[in-house]
Amino acid sequence: GGLSPFENEPMVDFTCKDQREAFPRHIAEVRRQLGKTCPLHINGRDVQTSDLLPSINPAGPSEVIGLICQAGATEVEEAIAAAGAAFPAWRDTAPGSRAGYLIKAAQAVRRRLFELSAWQVLEIGKQWDQAYADVTEAIDFLEYYAREMIRLGEPQRVGHAPGETNHYFYEAKGVAAVIAPWNFPLAISMGMVSAALVTGNCVVYKPSGLTSVIGRHLVEIFSEAGLPAGVFNYIPGRSSVMGDFLVDHPHISLIAFTGSREVGLRIIERAAKVHPGQAKVKKIVCEMGGKNGIIIDDDADLDEAVPHVLFSAFAFQGQKCSACSRAIVLDGVYDKFVERLLSMARATSVGPAENPAFYMGAVADDKAMKRILEYIEIGGKEGVILYRSPVPSEGYFVPMTIIGGIRPEHRIAREEIFGPVLAVMRAKDFEQAVEWANSTSYALTGGVFSRSPEHLALARREFRVGNLYFNRNCTGALVERQPFGGSRMSGVGAKAGGPDYLLHFMEPRVVTENT
Ligand code: SER
Repeated sequence: GGLSPFENEPMVDFTCKDQREAFPRHIAEVRRQLGKTCPLHINGRDVQTSDLLPSINPAGPSEVIGLICQAGATEVEEAIAAAGAAFPAWRDTAPGSRAGYLIKAAQAVRRRLFELSAWQVLEIGKQWDQAYADVTEAIDFLEYYAREMIRLGEPQRVGHAPGETNHYFYEAKGVAAVIAPWNFPLAISMGMVSAALVTGNCVVYKPSGLTSVIGRHLVEIFSEAGLPAGVFNYIPGRSSVMGDFLVDHPHISLIAFTGSREVGLRIIERAAKVHPGQAKVKKIVCEMGGKNGIIIDDDADLDEAVPHVLFSAFAFQGQKCSACSRAIVLDGVYDKFVERLLSMARATSVGPAENPAFYMGAVADDKAMKRILEYIEIGGKEGVILYRSPVPSEGYFVPMTIIGGIRPEHRIAREEIFGPVLAVMRAKDFEQAVEWANSTSYALTGGVFSRSPEHLALARREFRVGNLYFNRNCTGALVERQPFGGSRMSGVGAKAGGPDYLLHFMEPRVVTENT
């Protein structure tokens, strides 16, 4: 039988007692499993290495989540060889069968929804709802790409000249390296991995060092789905030791990366070089940063704009490439908007994500903390610090920070901070606001709060970002409904969770028969 049409997995509902109570119970359950050694997984087998990297709770760094075996060049070589050996059979597996593995994987994730959310609360400091949303997004990617592959797996007849038949169809590229970020540790990992797999590529997956325990769950999920050995390999490792080796390897045909602009551009540059023994030009699917602005028009509904801007800027501590880091406010409403934003910010508090009373939690690690604090200092010189929240003294906490009087040339209006720092800018009119919104090197998300049809129409034309949102927050893109990704220095235009995404992972072929 066919699959039912795609539907997004429902969001968590804390008005239901059982969902509310599931979180503390699963967090306690996960706590009992902390500190284990986490092996690599190559060719269907666990592999231990002696180089161990601890993964820790950013809200309480003495708590070790797991000890992760780190891959070196030897293990990367083995994983690529295993993936290469598994490739011909996997490529030739029918698209519908490959899709079937994703559906089974989705069932495995769904069954463990709360447990996988609880791991995220402890390993990377996600609030309950944010953690749950990450897991449901992972399910969505699996369910959506399965259906997309069934759609694309059917050869198409093209042309209508008499005496010939032409079949147009897609084929996998080969061995894919998937290099994943820590901020959506299950969803983005699963999105890139499942797209590569369902299209018939074999995968070597490098999770972020900060979330390798969550990354390891992909091994359990795909094992449960019955994926053949070698098709999916898990190789956490230090970027400084194995990152370039993986990217440069001649037997990698595709690299799917989500992360910083600096690393993304480095991958693109290195992957352009053809090494001895390399058969294919490497394809790069690359998602990078953002410096996203929300415009507040002078007729905006502030009851909507204020909470949505606060959420877009500070949920998960602003550590989303989609996060709002600039509020571009029209002069006529600037003072009123700022006053209301500050009063709402003052009503929130910062503390460990495992306690749902806190609006904001710890940032990813000590390096992130240091970088963000430096930016707050820079912002304080460029503009005026309007709000700087109190923070707990232990753990990697930085204050929720709102900085006024910022202009487009300021560093905190241009550089991605990837933390809870919001720059507020006063624009003289809507045209200037759009011009400023576009004035960074990124083009990922953006937002407009306005009741003016003319202004919304202008923004639709001229506010050039990959995901533009009117009268709502600018984060939390949903699979199928808001295919996600940007252009300029934000990415290469691949839209995750959209109808063109899988095409990046395949190459089209045509067979013409003279009849
Ligand atoms: N897709 C996420 C969002 O829209 C960011 O990666 O928030």
